[in-house]
Amino acid sequence: QTFFTPIHQATPPSPTKHHTKISVIGVGNVGMAIAQTILTQDLVDELALVDSNPNKLRGEMLDLQHAAAFLPRTKILASVDYAVTAGSDLCIVTAGARQIARESRLNLLQRNLELFRMIIPPLAKNSPDGILLVVSNPVDVLTFVAWKLSGFSSNRVIGSGTNLDSSRFRFLIADHLDVNAQDVQAYIVGEHGDSSVALWSSISVGGVPVLSFLDKQAIKYEKETLENIHKAVIQGAYEVINLKGYTSWAIGYSVASLARSILRNQRKIHPVSILAKNFYGIDGEVFLSLPAQLGRAGVLGVTNAHLTDEEMQQLRDSAKTIMEFQTQLGL
Ligand code: NAD
Ligand code: LAC
Repeated sequence: QTFFTPIHQATPPSPTKHHTKISVIGVGNVGMAIAQTILTQDLVDELALVDSNPNKLRGEMLDLQHAAAFLPRTKILASVDYAVTAGSDLCIVTAGARQIARESRLNLLQRNLELFRMIIPPLAKNSPDGILLVVSNPVDVLTFVAWKLSGFSSNRVIGSGTNLDSSRFRFLIADHLDVNAQDVQAYIVGEHGDSSVALWSSISVGGVPVLSFLDKQAIKYEKETLENIHKAVIQGAYEVINLKGYTSWAIGYSVASLARSILRNQRKIHPVSILAKNFYGIDGEVFLSLPAQLGRAGVLGVTNAHLTDEEMQQLRDSAKTIMEFQTQLGL
């Protein structure tokens, strides 16, 4: 006698209903913000968590499982063993050292490179058809590392990149113009960090191109005001880290939005870190953010955005900065 009485023979799941699974590696501030946002958005059937600290890992798993009565049904698993990630559609890597106040992201490279040597091979082995989404910093260089260590095709290796910086940018522009950030189309590309590039020429609000609108109306705008908004985007992360020690909520929502576009095959355009070779005159094997269309196969394409000569030069300089760090790796 079981508690539940079935009224008809259990049928196997319909072959048309795809079972979806996400694994999150690293259950620190960032990993948990991503995990909880994914759960609230009902994105997957199964969520697997991995961390090298078994007590923290089990504690976080139980704490999330205890919210079951308030969430869409998702099976939550956790283990220090990568076998738990087997068959993932998407693996999100957030493990690693984070910056202390005023430290640059690029300074974390050596520490997190060693961790990636332990993390990426077992992850790729357990989910050979999955997509890797890197969040740990420095995200652009580590996405290149994940590509090399996984042996995956480049369309299946993505860094969260400037999807977050672009959200900060849209928030600040919206605040400046007193409009809704969701009506602001604006992109930051290049390195997620200090050498990022703001694409001023392509900003529009509700379909109206902002700079040409101001020009046509003969409304004066100071180049300095624009530059200050971009500076505030770059400084934003440092300020949050200075104040609360780490950043978490915005990256949680940012990565969940990427997971949704990928798993639901949304073909949505996000500025994310991808293999940028042959785009916008970049000739090296470098990962940096470009506006990319994302879907079930990972990166589906890159938008041919119009960049001014100045923006193009800044993008190449950003690529050069990342390349300088990459060449030290010997991969
Ligand atoms: P955290 O210290 O809170 O968490 C890091 C977690 O990684 C810990 O739980 C730790 O036990 C785990 N870990 C360490 N070594 C591991 C290993 N070998 N295998 C599995 N797990 C391991 O740090 P956080 O605040 O969550 O930040 C994590 C990373 O995300 C940092 O590199 C940070 O810079 C980066 N980050 C990136 C963005 C972005 O936009 N790309 C935004 C915020 C933070
Ligand atoms: C961010 C991290 C620190 O919030 O990269 O931008």
